[in-house]
Amino acid sequence: MARSVSAWFALVAIVCSVTAISAEESNGSKEFVLTLDHSNFTDSVSKHKFIVVEFYAPWCGHCKNLAPEYEKAASILSKHDPPVILAKVDANKEANKGLANEYDVRGFPTLKILRNGGKDVQEYKGPREADGIVEYLKRESGPASAELKSAEDAIKLIDDKKIVVVGVFPKFSGKDFESYIALAEKLRSDYEFGHTLDAKHLPRGESSVTGPVVRLFKPFDELFVDFKDFNVEALEKFVEESSIPLVTLFNKDPSNHPFVIKFYNSPNAKAMLFANLSNEGTDSLKSKYREVAEQYKGQGIGFLLGDLEASQAAFQYFGVQESQVPLIIIQNNDGKKYLKPNLKADDIASFVKDYKEGKVPPYVKSEPVPEENNEPVKVVVADTLEDMVFKSGKNVLLEFYAPWCGHCKKLAPILDEVAVHYEKDASVLIAKLDATANDISDGKFDVRGPRKTSSISWNRTGTKLSNKSQRRMSSEKGRGPENITIRHRWYVHLQFYIG
Ligand SMILES: *[C@@H]1O[C@H](CO)[C@@H](O)[C@H](O)[C@H]1NC(C)=O
Ligand SMILES: *[C@@H]1O[C@H](CO)[C@@H](O)[C@H](O)[C@H]1NC(C)=O
Ligand SMILES: *[C@@H]1O[C@H](CO)[C@@H](O)[C@H](O)[C@H]1NC(C)=O
Ligand SMILES: *[C@@H]1O[C@H](CO)[C@@H](O)[C@H](O)[C@H]1NC(C)=O
Ligand SMILES: *[C@@H]1O[C@H](CO)[C@@H](O)[C@H](O)[C@H]1NC(C)=O
Ligand SMILES: *[C@@H]1O[C@H](CO)[C@@H](O)[C@H](O)[C@H]1NC(C)=O
Repeated sequence: MARSVSAWFALVAIVCSVTAISAEESNGSKEFVLTLDHSNFTDSVSKHKFIVVEFYAPWCGHCKNLAPEYEKAASILSKHDPPVILAKVDANKEANKGLANEYDVRGFPTLKILRNGGKDVQEYKGPREADGIVEYLKRESGPASAELKSAEDAIKLIDDKKIVVVGVFPKFSGKDFESYIALAEKLRSDYEFGHTLDAKHLPRGESSVTGPVVRLFKPFDELFVDFKDFNVEALEKFVEESSIPLVTLFNKDPSNHPFVIKFYNSPNAKAMLFANLSNEGTDSLKSKYREVAEQYKGQGIGFLLGDLEASQAAFQYFGVQESQVPLIIIQNNDGKKYLKPNLKADDIASFVKDYKEGKVPPYVKSEPVPEENNEPVKVVVADTLEDMVFKSGKNVLLEFYAPWCGHCKKLAPILDEVAVHYEKDASVLIAKLDATANDISDGKFDVRGPRKTSSISWNRTGTKLSNKSQRRMSSEKGRGPENITIRHRWYVHLQFYIG
């Protein structure tokens, strides 16, 4: 469910990276990316302290977009001292599938960083264009924590866009220092780490601080926090918790996006206030929202403030309109949503309180009920689901589709044919529901989003389809007319209800 909560943001991220990638022609000269397969993978990896492996499939569009960038990064990094090796494995090849399984490859492309001859494996979480890949990997292949010997070193590391953790120590040895470095190794892909002997090098530093102490710098809230427990677990908890803003800002500034991802990945319920932040009138809204966030700190709700300008995808996802801002939506991890449009600053506290007390009815996104519904395949929307499907007493074959999905378009004439076949049978309804525009609740349906395999199950003994549609449905890996399962790579899902 957490995945579907953030689905709209994931979509934004995919669209952004695609547009950011420039199509660069490779000249077909020397390839810098190392090709590996099952026969030589272990051997090659064991020779490297640090190597990056891309698992790809030749048919995958995102992989094709990445390829020229990855190659360019490999060529730049081959000149780095020491060189950083980038490799790739065609995970679509039957012989390499075991390897892909071993590395838990669930989508393409998947990039892993392998350290110490492959003993330590870490997810690649960096950018996907050449310069970004180079920067990210330079950092990843260097020491986990950088020594800060001067104020200049500190300024270079600590900017006002990201989380930076700095350990101040009287000497770079001993148990505390070792714990700190272990933490830095563990969290290096999520945060920047530094260490110093002299706190006065640090921004807002005081020479009176002699350490050992860990200071976390953040571009929001109290700007820095100190911590003195050097137990690795306690340190990790401290870093994870201190790096979540009281109110996460979502706007067009990409440096905020790591915090937005953190927000959506957290196990908390999610309060999201959308407003036009360029509007001067929103100041009191913002400050009241902060007050409420402060009040509910540690009570299982995260708070996000979204700028209208950046939130189109979110609005589409939630099925709400710009005219409804300022708008607050709280989403539980079970997917239930609670919504209040045209919010006033003074409404925020009472809305969140009512939500907490279970007094707000959930909001269900629905397309309007169609005025006419005369086509053979009937249109179901969230508001008519109960009456048309569950309470109809009919056997219903319901297609969940996405308007943009090619497989759904291909299925349309087949479904039409089936519907025409059953038109005179009052006990059967063939229907469709736009799963992008309507909420389908409560796990009644196992409809999965884009890029997941979904299935069509037709399970009615003794149905008589015309031979043509039987063949067409069977040809897609069917199992026989009485129980046809069609698997699709994209967003098609049909479900059959025996009424
Ligand atoms: C590719 O080759 C063409 C001519 O063969 C040359 O003009 C061009 O500079 C080359 N580009 C790169 C990136 O090497
Ligand atoms: C690994 O084996 C594949 C297939 O034989 C080959 O194309 C590739 O160049 C080999 N890679 C290395 C590093 O030996
Ligand atoms: C947000 O407010 C600003 C200032 O009032 C206005 O210029 C802008 O058009 C608004 N943006 C949207 C998307 O309504
Ligand atoms: C499909 O129908 C068969 C036979 O009636 C039944 O045993 C099976 O459980 C059904 N499967 C589903 C998924 O409903
Ligand atoms: C469908 O095909 C079967 C043989 O596969 C044939 O006996 C039957 O007459 C056909 N039905 C129609 C309606 O064409
Ligand atoms: C129908 O599909 C269900 C679920 O996939 C399966 O368990 C059942 O065995 C199938 N029945 C037939 C007759 O193939």
